[in-house]
This record gives sequence, structure tokens and C-alpha cells, in this order.
Amino acid sequence: MRKVPAQLNDSITEPQPPLSRPFASAYGHFAHDGLEYIITRPDTPRPWVNVITNGNYGCIVSQNGGGFSWQGNSQLRMLNRWDQDLIQDRMGRFLYLRNADDGALWSADRQPVCPEFDAWQVRHGLGYTITETVFHGVRCEKTVFVPFGFPCEFWLIHLSNLSDHQRTVDLISCLEWQLGAVHDWHREFHKTFVETAYSENDGILTAWKRPELGSKEPPFAGFHFAIGTPTLGFDGDKRTFLGSLGSISAPQSVIEGQLRGSAGRWTDPIASLHTQVTMGPGETKRLAFVLGAGGLETALRIRSSFPSTQEIADALEEVHTYWRARVDVTHVETPDSALNLMTNVWLKYQAIAGRLWARTGYYQNSGAFGFRDQLQDSHIWLSLEPERTREQILLHAAQQFTDGTVRHWWHPSTPIAATGDCTDDLLWLPYLALNYIDETDDSGIWDATAPWAPEGSGQASLYEHSIAAIEKALSRLSPRGLPLIGECDWNDGFSHLGRAWKGESVWLAHFMVGLLNRFAETARERGDTARANRYSESASTMAQAVNEHAWDGEWYWRATKDNGEKIGSHACAENRIDLIAQAWSVISGVAPPDRARRAMESARQHLFREYGPLLLTPAYTRMDHEIGYITRYAPGVRENGGVYSHAATWGILALCMLGEGDAAWKAYASMCPPRRGENPDLYYAEPYVLPGNIDGPDSPTFGRGGWTWYTGSAVWMHKVALDWICGVRATRGGLLIDPCVPGSWKSFHVTRHFRGEEYRIEVSNPNGVQHGVQQVQLNGKAVDGAIIPPTPNGPHEVRVLMG
Ligand code: GLC
Repeated sequence: MRKVPAQLNDSITEPQPPLSRPFASAYGHFAHDGLEYIITRPDTPRPWVNVITNGNYGCIVSQNGGGFSWQGNSQLRMLNRWDQDLIQDRMGRFLYLRNADDGALWSADRQPVCPEFDAWQVRHGLGYTITETVFHGVRCEKTVFVPFGFPCEFWLIHLSNLSDHQRTVDLISCLEWQLGAVHDWHREFHKTFVETAYSENDGILTAWKRPELGSKEPPFAGFHFAIGTPTLGFDGDKRTFLGSLGSISAPQSVIEGQLRGSAGRWTDPIASLHTQVTMGPGETKRLAFVLGAGGLETALRIRSSFPSTQEIADALEEVHTYWRARVDVTHVETPDSALNLMTNVWLKYQAIAGRLWARTGYYQNSGAFGFRDQLQDSHIWLSLEPERTREQILLHAAQQFTDGTVRHWWHPSTPIAATGDCTDDLLWLPYLALNYIDETDDSGIWDATAPWAPEGSGQASLYEHSIAAIEKALSRLSPRGLPLIGECDWNDGFSHLGRAWKGESVWLAHFMVGLLNRFAETARERGDTARANRYSESASTMAQAVNEHAWDGEWYWRATKDNGEKIGSHACAENRIDLIAQAWSVISGVAPPDRARRAMESARQHLFREYGPLLLTPAYTRMDHEIGYITRYAPGVRENGGVYSHAATWGILALCMLGEGDAAWKAYASMCPPRRGENPDLYYAEPYVLPGNIDGPDSPTFGRGGWTWYTGSAVWMHKVALDWICGVRATRGGLLIDPCVPGSWKSFHVTRHFRGEEYRIEVSNPNGVQHGVQQVQLNGKAVDGAIIPPTPNGPHEVRVLMG
């Protein structure tokens, strides 16, 4: 494992030299090999947040203290009230500090008091966020993290007296209980179900919400208490806490240093606790606050597991160890340090913490599993812990109906789900299974069983589930053999193109051809020969149909409406060319070589712009009821002519498949967050995670990123860098070495685990080619071709000569 500095603490009073501040901007920089992003000014263009979760409990923390916590489901089971106000960022879990002698008031985060700190910085890392401030001669370091195995978060506080005299400081917490879904819209109604109580003996404040009548679920409850310091007071009522004319930035009871001790029903429920520390000159005191989900019993269990701040500090160490071990399994060292730190650290973290576990960001709050979404996200586990990809595949299989259709999304353990006629969803199931088998060779997964939906419909093997998906898709073809788009394909915004089951999707045709060809091999391997032949034939007939009907002259058109009108064709006034109809013609091998080149040249000419490949251009400016909600978006925003990061990564992947290393890397770099973050007032978004979208040229804010964290692009950007640019990818027969790099890269290094062994791969490129491998050596012996067969007794040294 890579060595990580034991001391992550860059004191705010001892700034580092500029050289150790990669990708620095006016607002911050990376630190510690990219393991942390340090924000140095609170007024970032938008909240720059961290998503912290153990897979069950989680919280989002902005650099100013805004955000929310949840347990089980980030949309339906929020602990605290939060408003999605990206401009003010004023709702969160807060901690007031008050100097007991002179009543000076400030807060551990910038919100809610907004003091003029003498020093301030926030450090977002893997599984934790640290806010460090100096104010009024007191240094406060607040670390927020979620321990593994417990439904709670800790706010670990180090308070230091920087002055030359004794100081007594009050610490008063405050959060508003939500205990329900983010959209519990009638507050006055919902608050009548909530009750707060304070257990004097234990110093624990609890709140619980009466469940719906007949519900077998225990009431949704939360608790709040302090560790390492006596609790002096509490409040469970926002009104008494703030005072009738008080505000969240200056609550009456905080100003007075005296909480009112109200609890019970009929309140505007909050949790506020008061504790106090006295410090001699230069002294540091450590204490913690806990916020968690569950009743008094759970709180007491947590209290006994963490009797002092030492156990909390140990749990924080475990969080560091977990994430470092996770991200260190694969490692790239290329001449592009932005690609390195995104691939080595943040894209993995974003895909796991943000997408698979929390399923929320600040911009998009989901909590649900999307059928196609988390299947794709689960690619991230392939090179790390492939068993988890397997679990995800089987989880999704259980959301399929016997007719092959699937739930578009669902909230786990609830009846809340969306069905619908998105025509690609179901096909991602076999797609992922095939990729999982390439990684693991575990073709036994085809025989693993999963139930059919709804409950009680029996079960079937994954092979049967996959066949049901493919058969359904094959039953939905237009008379000329192109797949019908139905309610939409991968692009959800094309929601009205094919409602009458006439509109066609060219992208879906590409996707299906690739899948049918691959699945046919599986069927053949299993002795299901008639099916294998049928699927191969369907693939070639469909590829023929695409090439006969969907070639637009210089690129592939994208779809037809129910009335037969084309989308994404040169003849269209808006959306003349669409990226994924070009990229997947290459990825699936549908386009003959000349068309593949031509399609991607057209894409480069029209779509590949300064800040990444656009999804389509020009953007829609008028609502079109026959196309879908994409036409409601402002021009240049999200799918409507923006850089839709998820699809953009496919554009880069297609260039790699054509051996265009310079162009692929240029496109990668153009949308790579650390680079974009060097111009933060244009880019807006966090420089350490991918945004879902970047505004396109038809937007007045061309180049602005938004919808960060919760985007399926994270895993694909990781895949593009590791599998396609560095070119180390799993195939059934072994690890294929097929780099596609800019000619300026003379060497690079990849460490990757594959089927239980570690491979350390040194690639040299003395002649500066973009693609092509002359020789691969495994432990000093030349390998036949470019595939390293699975080899026991690693770690293995691999030398690759490009040329
Ligand atoms: C959103 C959806 C995803 C869809 C994409 C493109 O990210 O979650 O399922 O494929 O948009 O519309």
C-alpha cells in the first residue's frame, strides 16, 4: 500500500509552500497526494461539499457547515431539515461558540453566525471533513465523520486557547429535526407527529416521529448527545431557542448562554445541547457531539461503544484506513497529475460514496437505485472488490418482471418505485454481467438466482433474467429493424419521442448490436446454440439496418419521432448531431472503419468543445411535445446541449478505440475537474469530483459545472482513464495491455489487481506513439500478444514497450 503521511494536519497557522499546492486556485488546492482538497476561502462560487457515508448512515457537509444527514435513505429518511438553497447554503447542523466572559459569539463553521474569522480552512477528505478556524484567540478544529458499523456521525472538536489567559467557551449545537422525507411539505402537519425528550441521566436528547398507522416500521427517531464533556442544558424547541425575535445567526438563548430546556410535543422540534470548556493558556481540549438515527437504546449503545473521545479518534483512524486501502488497490502514475489524482482517489470515492452508497449530492437528492444507474456505477468495484459488482447485479435482477421489463428506479425496502418504458434499462443487466465475467471469469454468476418482481413471482437464474431482457428488447423493433425508443433510451430527456411505439433509437441499436454479439458467445459457451445463432443473426441484421437507414451522410442520426421525423440529423434546425449515436457506433463496432472515423471526426468538429464533448448541438430552444422534457431545459443546460459528463466519457472512449490518443487525452483534460477548478469563477463546481453537466455554448454561462457528486460519469471517467487511456483492461483471457495515450507521454505506470494478483505495469513509449504495443514482458519473459494470462504467485512485474 502507498505510504500516506501519518500527519494529515497542515496547521492553518503554518501554510505550506506553494509547490505543494497542486491545482491551486483562489479558493483552495489539493494536498497529500490528492487525498484531500483544502478550501481556503468560504465564498466559493457554489457550496463545495463532501459526501460522507458508511453505506447506511450518511451526511453531506458543505464548506460552510450546510447540509443534511440521513439514515437508510438520503431522500426519505433525513434526520435534519434542509433546504436545497445552493446560494445561501444556510441549513445544516450547527455549532455555536460563545466566549463566556464577554459573550463574543461565533460558530465552528462559517454558518450560521458568519463571523470574520482570523483564520479559516476546510479540508474535505475520504470519509471526513475538517473545519479549522481561529477566532477571538480560540482555535477550533471540527472533524465530521461517520464511523463504520454505527448509525451516527461524530463531530470531533479540538478547542485550543491561543491566548495568554484562561478561557471558558460555551459550545451550543443546533439542528432542526426533519425525521422524514425531504419533501414532507406541510411542516405544520408533520411537526405534530414529532416528539422530543431529554434524558437527564444520560444527557441524551431524542426525537421521534410517529409512524403511519398500520406501519410495521419502528418510528423514525434521532438522538444527539455530547461525549467528553458534561451537558449543561438542552432545548428541543426552536421558538424558545431562537426567542421570538431571534434568528439562527444570533439565537436569544445562545447570546445569553442559557438554554431553556423545552421538549415534548407541539414544538418546532430541534436538538440543541449546551456544554462548556475551560482552557488554560495554550491548552487544547477535546470533546465530541454525536448525531444519530435511532432511539435512546441505540444512543446508549453508541455511548458505551465510545465512552471517550479516544474511541472516536480510533474510529476516525479506521475510516482513514478503510478508504486508503480501498483506493490504493489500483494506482496510476502518468505525466498528467490531474488524471492521476482523479483516477487514484476521487473518482473511486465519488462512485462509491456518492453514487452507490449515499445516492445523493447537494444538487440532486435521490436515495433510490436507478436500474441502469447503479448497475453502471458498480463497474467501480470490478478492479477493487468484484464481489460487490456481483451483489449489485443480483440486486437489480430482482427488480425485473417476468416479461423482461424492469423498474426504472426504486427505493429499497419501500413500495416506492417507478416502472416505465425506458427501453435500454433492462439491457444493462446482461451488459454488467458480461463485464463482471471479463474481470473475474466467474461465469457461475449466470446460474445465480434472483427473484422476479413483484414479490412472490418466483425466481430465475441470471441467465434467464438476461434472456428475458434481451427477448423483450428484440420484440420492440420497427418494421425496418431498428429498436423502438418507447418512453426514452439512455437519454431520459427524450421522454416523448416514442410514446406511440413508432419512434426509433439509433443509439439503442448500437448498444444492442454490441450486447447481442457478446451475449451470443455466452449462449454458445453454455450450449444454447440455437439462441447463440439467433442473437448473432439479430446483431448483424440490426447493424445492417443501422448502416442502411441511419447514416446521415457524415454521421449517424440519433432517433426518429413517432411521426418518422429524424432527430440529430443535418436536416434538423436544433439537435443536428448527437454524441452518443456516434460514440457507440464505434464502441459497439457497428460502424465500418471508414464510417467510424467519419462519425467521430464529425463529432469532434461539431461537439468537442473547450470544456468537453457536448451531448448534442445546437440546443433546443423551443418546447417540443413530441420530443420530451429535454426541450424544456434552458438551452445549453444538462442534456440540452451541455457537456453531459456521462455521455462525454463515451466520446473519449470511442476516440481511444480509434487509437486517437492525443484527441482522447485532450478531451479528457478539457473536462477534468482539477484543471477546470483552476478557473473557479467560470467553472463554479468542486474541483475534486465530476459534475453531471457543464453548460454548453448555447448557455450564457458556457463552461459552468453543476449537479456534482451524483453523476454516473464518475465511474466511466475512471474506466476511460484506467481501461482505455492507460489501456489496462480485463478480458476473459487475461489482462489486456492496449494504451492509447498522447504522443508526449514517454512512460507511465499502472498497478492493478486482477483475479487476486497484483500486476505492476511499466509502460515506455520512447517513440512517442499514441497507440500500439510492440512488446509485453511478464516477469522478464516476452508474452505472446498483448494479453497477460492470469498468473499465480504475484506480485508481477510487467514491462510494456509501445511503438
Ligand atoms: C440521469 C439519469 C440517467 C440517464 C441520464 C441521461 O443521469 O439518472 O439514468 O441515463 O440522466 O438522461
